[in-house]
Amino acid sequence: MDNNLVDKFLVDKSRFDGTVMVTGAGGCIGAWVVAILQRSGISVLALDLSEDRRRVALLLGEDEAARVNWQASDITDFTTLRHLAETHNASAIIHLAGLQVPFCAANPALGARVNVEGTINILQVARELGIKRNAYASSIASLALPPGGPYKETLYGAYKLANEHSAFVYWSDWQVPSIGLRPNVVYGVARDQGMSSKNTTAIHAAVAGSRFEIPYTGDYSWLYAGEAAAAFIAAASFEAEGAPVFDLNGRCETLEDGLAIVKELAPDAEVSCSGPEFPFPADLDESALRAFVPEYHSISVTEGVRDTFNGFAALKAEGRLPSLPE
Ligand SMILES: NC(=O)c1ccc[n+]([C@@H]2O[C@H](COP(=O)([O-])OP(=O)(O)OC[C@H]3O[C@@H](n4cnc5c(N)ncnc54)[C@H](O)[C@@H]3O)[C@@H](O)[C@H]2O)c1
Repeated sequence: MDNNLVDKFLVDKSRFDGTVMVTGAGGCIGAWVVAILQRSGISVLALDLSEDRRRVALLLGEDEAARVNWQASDITDFTTLRHLAETHNASAIIHLAGLQVPFCAANPALGARVNVEGTINILQVARELGIKRNAYASSIASLALPPGGPYKETLYGAYKLANEHSAFVYWSDWQVPSIGLRPNVVYGVARDQGMSSKNTTAIHAAVAGSRFEIPYTGDYSWLYAGEAAAAFIAAASFEAEGAPVFDLNGRCETLEDGLAIVKELAPDAEVSCSGPEFPFPADLDESALRAFVPEYHSISVTEGVRDTFNGFAALKAEGRLPSLPE
């Protein structure tokens, strides 16, 4: 039994003529990408470190998640990646595997291997196999560099910026096209880790009947996970020229107003926010992306918060609501 969150993002399967290789398939955006592709009847090769499909199962249900073509593999292992892409006839790549801000800070060398070397491996696979439809996740954290600007510099942002430059060189030297997307704050069912996941945790807590305080206030980017996934799918659905990188913002709305939507759905919910503003911009212009890639579905904050709340509530009714993230 699923809660039908995915169906509004389905895509026409004739847009793809082979298998779409998705790295980081077990993560939040990856789970949404895999779920949308699978439900759209598009051939998927899902890759992640482990066989853990729990986030995909939140979207598709356990049975359908178990049917996904999934291979446990490490993004730092080039030989295996190349072999899998070749034997599964990958004709497009959506590269999402990565370690987020806190994990890069806790283990910088591993962060560099996964985020930087992992992206090089993907670009190299595309180069060697002639794969021309490539989308990868950068981040708005890359906008904090070079240092001295208005946003917080992080190792994670430095790695993501390196990837954008690597993608440029793969195009200029070897004509490997790619589209980099810099997602802002993603929320929705399956978002459960990273410094920007707290608005999702608040919605989750409202459904679980737990108390939760978001440690930020003010403007926030509300980028619904299904919409982010749809943007990556659109970016990988055609052969681009060059290696452009685009901001992917979602809607700018205050945390206070987002929580007000939650409280309309659950008036007794004990969810709140306090503290400073989130240290990244909330209202980046995504019109350049919209003009460059085929159209994809977007939803309002009201609809996204409601879908997230209802999605968690459906999981609760089925006895499958995950525990609140630490
Ligand atoms: N969620 C956001 O708000 C956001 C914002 C900006 C950018 N991004 C980027 O988008 C991508 C996806 O984000 P997400 O929220 O789904 O992240 P996530 O942390 O939920 O998922 C990342 C996935 O990468 C996998 N991974 C880690 N190390 C790996 C390795 N060595 N080999 C293979 N897989 C490995 C993890 O197992 C995990 O399933 C990431 O690159 C992230 O940096 C996310």
